[in-house]
Amino acid sequence: LREIAREKDMKGLHVLVTAGPTQESVDPVRYITNHSTGKMGYAIAKVCMQRGADVTLVTGPTSIEKPHFVNVVPITTAREMFEEVTGRAEEQDIIIKAAAVADYRPRYVSDEKVKKKDDDLALEMERTDDILAYLGAHKTKDQFLCGFSMETENMLENSRKKLKKKNLDMIIANSLKMEGAGFGGNTNVVTVITEDFEKELGKLTKEETADRILDQILAQRGEV
Ligand code: CTP
Ligand code: CA
Repeated sequence: LREIAREKDMKGLHVLVTAGPTQESVDPVRYITNHSTGKMGYAIAKVCMQRGADVTLVTGPTSIEKPHFVNVVPITTAREMFEEVTGRAEEQDIIIKAAAVADYRPRYVSDEKVKKKDDDLALEMERTDDILAYLGAHKTKDQFLCGFSMETENMLENSRKKLKKKNLDMIIANSLKMEGAGFGGNTNVVTVITEDFEKELGKLTKEETADRILDQILAQRGEV
């Protein structure tokens, strides 16, 4: 009931959230992916919906139940996520990219199962498109762009570089090394970074973290 009775401080806002990993095929039985479970992105989509926003969730494969009252767009590969996100970007007030997108995919996808040989196997990989960098380069007026950053070292410095390079308004930095943070768990420890602001949120559940991130986004947009 508390959820229903929430203040609808995001009413009228169109928000696109991405979540989960992508999967890049090697052959019909194998793919390359990462440890993202999608929990953080799903929590953000749900909280945006509860706060009254019109939410689209572009999601890689996860085992999480689809949130109600959210427009869910399932994708598998980085290329599909690029198409679905960029095709809907223009009408969004806020885009939050929590997905763990593959940076590389196998250059050749075999039609048949790759059979093992006695030798080692080298897999040639090519770069995927950086969706967030594309969005940053094509940002519409008053659109707010929030990225995530996963690091194992030099978290703040590397995250600030991404903020600048991709022309973001905010980046949420995650350290895999922090206790209570990282993949799979129900809690997170993130640092909210903008050009002139930096705040560590402390160990919170992913839903609490989502709420605090949204508070910061609304504050930055000058709506509270
Ligand atoms: N991202 C994206 N498209 C990609 C790769 C990343 O949109 N092809 C987005 C992620 O969704 C995330 C942000 O960029 O919001 C940062 O992702 P991260 O993997 O931390 O950084 P990268 O820029 O990919 O750099 P690196 O992996 O080398 O640290
Ligand atoms: Ca990456």
